[in-house]
Amino acid sequence: MSAPPTAAAELLLAKAHDRSAVFGIVGMGYVGLPLAMELVHAGYRVLGVDVKASVVDHLNAGHSHIKDVPGESVARAVREKRFSATADLARLTEPDAISICVPTPLSKTKDPDVSFVIAATNAVKQTLRRGQLIILESTTYPGTTRELMLPALVSTGLKVGEDFFLAFSPERVDPGNPNYNTRNTPKIVGGITPTCLQVAVALYQPAIDRLVPVSSTEAAELVKILENTFRSVNIGLVNEMAIVCDKLGVDVWEVIDAAATKPFGFMKFTPGPGLGGHCIPIDPHYLAWKMRALNYKTRFIEIAGEVNAEMPEFWVGKAIDRLNDRSKALRGSRVLVLGVAYKRDIADVRESPALDIIRLLTQRGAIVSYHDPYVSRIEEDGARLASVALTAETVAAADCVIVVTDHSDVDYGLVARHARIAVDTRHVLPGSLD
Ligand SMILES: NC(=O)c1ccc[n+]([C@@H]2O[C@H](COP(=O)([O-])OP(=O)(O)OC[C@H]3O[C@@H](n4cnc5c(N)ncnc54)[C@H](O)[C@@H]3O)[C@@H](O)[C@H]2O)c1
Repeated sequence: MSAPPTAAAELLLAKAHDRSAVFGIVGMGYVGLPLAMELVHAGYRVLGVDVKASVVDHLNAGHSHIKDVPGESVARAVREKRFSATADLARLTEPDAISICVPTPLSKTKDPDVSFVIAATNAVKQTLRRGQLIILESTTYPGTTRELMLPALVSTGLKVGEDFFLAFSPERVDPGNPNYNTRNTPKIVGGITPTCLQVAVALYQPAIDRLVPVSSTEAAELVKILENTFRSVNIGLVNEMAIVCDKLGVDVWEVIDAAATKPFGFMKFTPGPGLGGHCIPIDPHYLAWKMRALNYKTRFIEIAGEVNAEMPEFWVGKAIDRLNDRSKALRGSRVLVLGVAYKRDIADVRESPALDIIRLLTQRGAIVSYHDPYVSRIEEDGARLASVALTAETVAAADCVIVVTDHSDVDYGLVARHARIAVDTRHVLPGSLD
């Protein structure tokens, strides 16, 4: 039988009930800002904490730097004194509940880089007081909350589940998704103790339509990695099928669309230029790393990672073949890359396969330009380019156009009409020139 809630827990439950709790969000990025706004809409006051002064100033001036969050929402929340931002980590003593939404990238050797989680945990530890709930939102390997955060927080002398509360609740935000947002996407929560879970669920309840409690922080951590590994493996499978179909001279899109008519036992995934973004190419490697330490090799993760990473090379090879058919070399050819964001209708280029494609083209001597309605400049991976206008002239001036991102508001008809050669990694061009 679990212990009855302590006075500290009872107080937090009451503050959730009457919305008098103050939330602190550490990391005001793609995950932190939408979560902050949902908590404000639910009636809480929210303090946004970020180490970047420019982000803090922008938010306090009532602007949003995240496309899915309207500037007006931030402006209203600031005006009504329901939201403010700070770079002063000492103010973490003020909130009753603190959600940590900092990056969890990979190191150059593909090992987890949990330095941001450690830094945020240390900041929270400096000001930890009785009656605070700490929730880690960042995607990470199973064991992070208990093995990395808990020892730091209990070193203050406060007891978990009695004085303070610790939980893991993975963010599932899907930037650019018009149907699902932070509020209407069910949210997994796992606590270090049953009281931690109870308190975390109670505090999130007013802001999230459906909370899904699980039995431990490890289970919650693993749910998120399973979700992203599921996508990585299935995308890897259809990408391999695209290579197979290419070798067999079969249209992979026809095969996938026909397979998708099966009303059970098949889920449609589509091939493309490779994986991008902060999650799917990265998160499975957190689990692979953890399992390596336990002497187990996660084979599906490795193979999917390999296949997906090969796709930029595959598509550049297609461009080379097409040019070759017209007796042209890639070296010296003008190549227009259409879309550099890692997915449709967003401005995020993190881990975007377009950057790999541009690098591979440039290394082989192509003269590369790009168009992306959401990304005006790229300065990554050695490439320094500005988006060119998409006109009949710019398309016709290119020896080859490679469609990398399938943004909705691009005139693909114009591209199909004027491109000399088109390589369509997303199957969006009418009549499919590819
Ligand atoms: N972006 C997504 O679509 C998405 C979806 C689900 C989960 N996640 C996960 O959520 C986490 C955050 O991702 P994101 O995309 O929001 O990252 P982001 O880079 O957009 O935002 C992170 C913010 O944290 C700030 N920051 C870094 N260290 C800090 C510290 N010690 N104290 C305070 N602020 C700090 C940064 O300045 C930045 O503004 C990651 O673990 C990611 O894997 C992201």
